Amino acid sequence: MKNIVLQTHAISKHFESTRALVEVSIELYKGEVLGLIGENGSGKSTLSSIIAGVQKADSGGMFLHGKPYSPASITDAGKKGISMIVQEQGTLNGISVAANIFAGKEGLFSRLGILDIKKMNREAKKLLASIGVASIEPSLPVDKLSFEERKLLEVARSEFNKPEILIVDETTTALGKEGRGVMYQMIKRMRDEGKSVIFISHDIQELLDICSRVTVLRDGRVIGSLSGNEMQAPAMKKMMVGRDIAENMFRNDYIDVIDNNDDISKETLLSAEHITNALLDAISLQVKRGEILGIGGLTDCGMHELGKVLFGLSIPDIGTVWVNNKSGKIVSAQMAIKNRMAYVSKNRDTEALMAACSIKDNMCLPLWPRLKHFGLVPPKKEMNIVKKWGEKLSIKMQNPKQYVMQLSGGNKQKVSIAKWLASEADIFIFDCPTRGIDIGVKNDIYHLLDNLRKEGKAILMISEELPELIGMSDRILILKNGKINGEFQRKRSLSEADLINYMI
Ligand SMILES: Nc1ncnc2c1ncn2[C@@H]1O[C@H](COP(=O)(O)OP(=O)(O)OP(=O)(O)O)[C@@H](O)[C@H]1O
Ligand SMILES: [Mg+2]
Repeated sequence: MKNIVLQTHAISKHFESTRALVEVSIELYKGEVLGLIGENGSGKSTLSSIIAGVQKADSGGMFLHGKPYSPASITDAGKKGISMIVQEQGTLNGISVAANIFAGKEGLFSRLGILDIKKMNREAKKLLASIGVASIEPSLPVDKLSFEERKLLEVARSEFNKPEILIVDETTTALGKEGRGVMYQMIKRMRDEGKSVIFISHDIQELLDICSRVTVLRDGRVIGSLSGNEMQAPAMKKMMVGRDIAENMFRNDYIDVIDNNDDISKETLLSAEHITNALLDAISLQVKRGEILGIGGLTDCGMHELGKVLFGLSIPDIGTVWVNNKSGKIVSAQMAIKNRMAYVSKNRDTEALMAACSIKDNMCLPLWPRLKHFGLVPPKKEMNIVKKWGEKLSIKMQNPKQYVMQLSGGNKQKVSIAKWLASEADIFIFDCPTRGIDIGVKNDIYHLLDNLRKEGKAILMISEELPELIGMSDRILILKNGKINGEFQRKRSLSEADLINYMI
């Protein structure tokens, strides 16, 4: 018989009118990597945070090694061998890398009440090197690190705490190719040592690669589990969304000679010339009306910075961003918005959304200049916009006045996309648009992108997901060390390996 490490028994949790979990019973075995899967808002993070002691269930119970388990706090859960890497930011700004890694354990480096910072930094350096990220400097304040590097600190912290059960809540979407490798190595090590992992992800291939079993949640209820031969992509998708999901989610038009593609006009809506700064090296590009230009590469290749420069959020040392056949220059985000540009940032928490404001305000604020009527914004118009986009993207919310911070991760992402789709811009810059979005809605977003293209918008899509780049782009530029290292036209035979060759 398999050895059960952790069991939840009929756990329920509600937030006002939302039933986040309904009598959820799951089992976690020793030495297994269990995938916890389900649509955005199905209850994955809520369940994880109850197991990890962050919040309490309304009813039901948990058992650790067969004994009642009811953690009083996240620290208490940690002491009992359970820790979690959270979906949103899990580090504290204002303190150093090393202090973040050893938070709560500073005693290990203190003598007579005095903290030996050098020793702590040395240990942090060793730890970071042991998981393969020696490049992060332990004495730096965390604020200086990228979102990805901060996530890797949380990986290092988990490595140090040596939990018996680790919960990984969608961490991999914040990581590039190399960071993911670090994460997978740690998970494998834990499994080989007979420890257990609960792994949350929307990436089916990744789940198939690293999990031995998956448990599916839908609307807060357990739908079932799959393992062995039953664990196949179509079955997983169907259990999550309750209907069959098409095998190919992307656009399916292919034109052998791209010059003949009537959808792409000769009119250049966005262009960049010789963009150069600390992270980018003489980047020139053009995006035409009706074209999707994909930008790919490793996380630190400069592609995320490029998105910021194009939208006027970061000013290059050399080079110019032009719009509308070079009729206007972009030197600020204000200017970009005025020229009907839209930008969906990769980092929804700090750059894309006002978490303490309502869904309605987040979606409608950028539209106020357009909606204003004699100086006032008609509430009905705002409500109609939220209703329209809420339905199109299946945003799971109580009502439009709900705070964005109360939404699940994927639903926040949907709000940040909806806000710009509603703006009816002409030029769209999407940085990792489907990050954290469930498989059903991903499909919808690809359709929306394809429609924007057909309507004659210019779209630049930065992405770390190669299938998405290959499946959606008319043309792809691969960046490496801040330079364009390869260019590919849309064609059926283009493979991930073709692109990877130019990325590394
Ligand atoms: N603090 C809160 N206040 C109000 N509602 C909440 C709160 N936390 C979660 N919810 C709601 O509970 C439901 C489940 O959310 P949860 O975050 O567990 O989903 P999830 O499966 O992790 O989704 P995702 O894939 O988008 O991360 C959602 O409808 C969410 O809006
Ligand atoms: Mg979640």
